[in-house]
Amino acid sequence: MHIKLQSPLDMHLHLREGVMLQNVTPFTAAVFAGAVVMPNLVDPVDSLEKVRAYRKKIKECENTENFAPYMTLFFKQYSRQQLLDAKNEIIGIKLYPAGITTQSENGVSDISAINETLGYMEELGIPLLVHGETGGFVMDREKEFLGAYQQFAENFPNLHIIMEHITTADAVTIVDHYENVSATVTLHHLLITLDDVAGGLLEPDLFCKPIAKTPKDRAALQDAVFSGHPRIMFGSDSAPHPRHKKECCGCAAGIFSAPVALPMLAQLFDDAGKLDLLQNFVSGIACSRYGITPLQKTITLEKKPWLVPELYHDLKPFAAGQRLSWSQVI
Ligand code: NCD
Ligand code: ZN
Repeated sequence: MHIKLQSPLDMHLHLREGVMLQNVTPFTAAVFAGAVVMPNLVDPVDSLEKVRAYRKKIKECENTENFAPYMTLFFKQYSRQQLLDAKNEIIGIKLYPAGITTQSENGVSDISAINETLGYMEELGIPLLVHGETGGFVMDREKEFLGAYQQFAENFPNLHIIMEHITTADAVTIVDHYENVSATVTLHHLLITLDDVAGGLLEPDLFCKPIAKTPKDRAALQDAVFSGHPRIMFGSDSAPHPRHKKECCGCAAGIFSAPVALPMLAQLFDDAGKLDLLQNFVSGIACSRYGITPLQKTITLEKKPWLVPELYHDLKPFAAGQRLSWSQVI
């Protein structure tokens, strides 16, 4: 059995820099027509100049001829002119609350003080992508941030707001409620719960921000996706860290899922009897919500067992060593 996907898109991706960039980009670029590239580099991507330089480095990687990196700016207060200049070269601006995740120290420390920039974004039609967590108790962080999403959605009704990597049933109710709010959901949050991370021996390779939540939350995410929710789309949040930063004290947050994303999504949708919804989840919804026309790219997936390698370079992929029921035909 085969399925063909037209122009799959990964709407939340970390490509990093240097050798890591060269090592991880080809996995996504080989099979996705485009991806939204996160700006949380050590020196955040917070100017048009940096956007251009980063985009150029991405395009120098292998497999990127037929791959569109959709660039993002790191949120800070920008002038209207800066946003006007950047508008055509970015897909949106990514807001990180300060210190909430990997390389977010320069993020926003007071979300009530950013209305001017949000107003310019609304006027210029620049989407706002948000890592929506507070600094509260780890299982409640997303829930505690939902009030901020409501304020953004109500105060800026023409601003397209994307709740990145949602993990809870409560978050789904916010996407349901506001027409100007979309969400990305990851592969791993559709599959794992906190039990998989910390219920047995600690699994550093499943440790990510936001942390995986309860079975009830996972079920709510699956229900939303498998009902064909018109505003919830795929974003892998593939976030590679070298092994020495995962298998150590003070493990870095992030799951490297890029090499397995499409086969595992096919398996998940197939197991749920929802393969017919996969095309929309990995492409159609993103196109309609962001108003983009992706590069033409047809990817074939086959229901044929595939053993996921234990390592790619120095990186342990999601589902390392597992036998999947679907594989990519390259
Ligand atoms: C991401 C990273 O490593 O850059 N980590 C993660 O756990 N998802 C940052 C992020 O998206 O929070
Ligand atoms: Zn991320």
